[in-house]
Amino acid sequence: MMDYPKPDDETEDCGCSETPATRQSLYSDARAELRRRDFAKFLATVGGLTAVASLTAPLASTTQVFERSYEGPIYSDGVTLVDGEGEPIQEGRLSEGEHMTVFPEPRPGIEDAPTLLVRYSESAYSNVKEGFTVSGYAAFSKVCTHAGCMVGNRDGDLLVCPCHFGKFDPLSGASVEGGPPGRALPQLPITISSDGTLIATGDFEGPVGPGGE
Ligand code: FES
Repeated sequence: MMDYPKPDDETEDCGCSETPATRQSLYSDARAELRRRDFAKFLATVGGLTAVASLTAPLASTTQVFERSYEGPIYSDGVTLVDGEGEPIQEGRLSEGEHMTVFPEPRPGIEDAPTLLVRYSESAYSNVKEGFTVSGYAAFSKVCTHAGCMVGNRDGDLLVCPCHFGKFDPLSGASVEGGPPGRALPQLPITISSDGTLIATGDFEGPVGPGGE
């Protein structure tokens, strides 16, 4: 197996590891950081998710240490995308080339699900699946499909996972462009409601987080 950069000695229950020096860059989104532990817990306990955790796996290993399979919905038709303050995302919120972290509007049983929202011109996308982009927006799960870290950094237009430098192309369905992830970030079907806010039209198209290949 190919070796990928590994942090030194520290880990958290996300199944990834990070050093103090890299911690700030790993979770630059404040709410995503605050919510990350809760979200992992939520994924493991709510909404039909089954966590098969091996949290005691060797930290030096880059193999998956947190596996889970997703069965129930996080988003569903009509669920509003909101920012870290709970404000609905209006159509004009992002300019082309901008990214941000959003969440499903909280409701019983669904408190959190960090989601990457990006905006580009419609013509910039390739392999566009009908119903997955609207007004240049596309949305993907923020949970890395390798070992569950939060994908939050950028390399140009690429989305980068800080744990092992998995790279995903948001212009091509978040396809894997580098690093160890075995599959794309699941995409969320979205549209714009009559009042101009972004809403989901269904759930993520595939399992959230590690596994699911
Ligand atoms: S958790 Fe390993 S590349 Fe994202």
